[in-house]
Amino acid sequence: MLPGKRIKLRAMEPEDIPAMVRWLNDPEVIENLLRYAPLSIKEEEGWYEKMIASPAEEHYYMIDVLDEDTVKTIGTTHLHNVDWKNRSAEIAICIGEKNYWGNGYGCETMQLMLRHGFNDLNLNRMYLYVFDTNERAKKAYLAAGFVEEGRLRQDIYKNGQYIDTHIMSVLRDEWQDARV
Ligand SMILES: CC(C)(COP(=O)(O)OP(=O)(O)OC[C@H]1O[C@@H](n2cnc3c(N)ncnc32)[C@H](O)[C@@H]1OP(=O)(O)O)[C@@H](O)C(=O)NCCC(=O)NCCS
Repeated sequence: MLPGKRIKLRAMEPEDIPAMVRWLNDPEVIENLLRYAPLSIKEEEGWYEKMIASPAEEHYYMIDVLDEDTVKTIGTTHLHNVDWKNRSAEIAICIGEKNYWGNGYGCETMQLMLRHGFNDLNLNRMYLYVFDTNERAKKAYLAAGFVEEGRLRQDIYKNGQYIDTHIMSVLRDEWQDARV
């Protein structure tokens, strides 16, 4: 478990699968994700089995908020494309409970993941891709300490149009632990 001030990150359990499927079938939630096709419980179960069988490559966590004495699971975050030789990894996040958007949980999650990547996994560079249209995400990442590296023009075809993608990263040298 990775504890923060308002959230904690924990391992994904099979019981989390229905919520994941609900989130990943919500058009508003996936508007700024690569996902575009309907997802079934069976498909997600198959993905889960593969994910837990390769713990060195996939680091999936659920985001729990301590909300008025109850724990509410609001989304998920993960590290993937882990390159152990060059000490880099890609980071991603999806808060599926939409009424929790814009409350700083995305920023806090990224700060916890940066601490985990640098302090626990000994990574040197953590990066992410974000659609140009995803203003909320870009602000959350900047607030968490990510800097823009560049723009990939017309990188993604989504909802009938091409969208530019930004690549952002944090290097270990420049990272400041936000103590969340
Ligand atoms: C993107 C996401 C992770 C951001 O997390 P969050 O908890 O909503 O974001 P935060 O509250 O930490 O930060 C949001 C920032 O955007 C601002 N913001 C909120 N709503 C906004 C909106 N509609 N448009 C632009 N900015 C907005 C907030 O004021 C805040 O900026 P600030 O730090 O300057 O105040 C979350 O909304 C999410 O998972 N969305 C669905 C999936 C997704 O887009 N994933 C990311 C793919 S790269």
